[in-house]
Amino acid sequence: DATDIEKGTYPHYMLKEIDEQPAVLRKIIQAYQNEDGELHVDRETLDAINGADRIYIIAAGTSYHAGLVGKEYFEKFAGVPTEVHISSEFGYHMPLLSDKPLFVFISQSGETADSRQVLVRIKELGHPSLTVTNVAGSTLSRESDHTVLLHAGPEIAVASTKAYTAQIAVLGILAALASEAKGKTIGFDLIQELGIAANAAQTMVDRKEEMEGLSFDFLELSRNAFFIGRGLDYHVSLEGALKLKEISYIQAEGFAGGELKHGTIALIEEGTPVFALATQEAVSPNIRGNVKEVGARGAKSCIISMEGIQEEGDRIVIPAVHPMLAPLVSVIPLQLISYYAALHRGCDVDKPRNLAKSVTVE
Ligand code: G6P
Repeated sequence: DATDIEKGTYPHYMLKEIDEQPAVLRKIIQAYQNEDGELHVDRETLDAINGADRIYIIAAGTSYHAGLVGKEYFEKFAGVPTEVHISSEFGYHMPLLSDKPLFVFISQSGETADSRQVLVRIKELGHPSLTVTNVAGSTLSRESDHTVLLHAGPEIAVASTKAYTAQIAVLGILAALASEAKGKTIGFDLIQELGIAANAAQTMVDRKEEMEGLSFDFLELSRNAFFIGRGLDYHVSLEGALKLKEISYIQAEGFAGGELKHGTIALIEEGTPVFALATQEAVSPNIRGNVKEVGARGAKSCIISMEGIQEEGDRIVIPAVHPMLAPLVSVIPLQLISYYAALHRGCDVDKPRNLAKSVTVE
């Protein structure tokens, strides 16, 4: 539908797509509900997941970062050991495979050549495949055994936003249903918690002005920035850094908080911006410890925490959501901060230099 891809009153597709995230999450809940209001995915897809002794997630860019979160779902919800691989690396550097692998390709476009190359190779080896994509009828979808759709609507901005949150939500649903198909339970009501996450996402997209202010405050004069987290927050920190570097050209690095002392802390100077995610209660004290360490060396830190575990001085507190779903919400302030950093620097937000929406060459 052409009207879906109009910018409307938005100055950029990226801002429009950031804004669409709460609606996309609600759309996904709907799309995967059956007439009894229960989450549903076709039996063959669930059998493929439960028939595997190990899942190999293959993806590139932002989709790879969604895959890192997806791994946590496949392991914690469905109990299937899962590895996540960058498709271009896997292409020529294949790890030792398990006896019954399932390959899960995550690709917004369904056209990324690096990922397709892996699909071709594993099909030659006779292994089953599942593609999670936004584009029905895309190459990866056509050529793999199973497809699960994102229902995010067309994503036009080169920097991926709503596809990332959609991928995480859909992977969560898949893993939860795989668990249920085995007669197990994930211990919480996923429909309800996704609904809460959609509302929380709405709260965050409504805080644009505040995020613009923070972006200016933290990034106006900086040539670099660091994003740290632990556990699920670590995965989101990688995505936060990617967003910032791809559209604002500020050199950004995301890494695990515990790795600071093994190298990166050497780069901390007076005023270096550090975005620290602290939405995971178990590791929140550790990440707060990291913030103190970088603070002692002059860093300017922005803690992104969650209601219930927030502390005084946290610059961004997201509404309380189920901790496993926190990435759906905590990534939004990072997307907005990147957007405004790029905007203030006069960058071409929707079409950053040297990048393409979908890379169809290896
Ligand atoms: C390109 C885009 C990225 C995207 C990556 C993977 O590099 O610029 O935003 O994350 O491809 O794309 P895919 O369509 O496979 O998710």
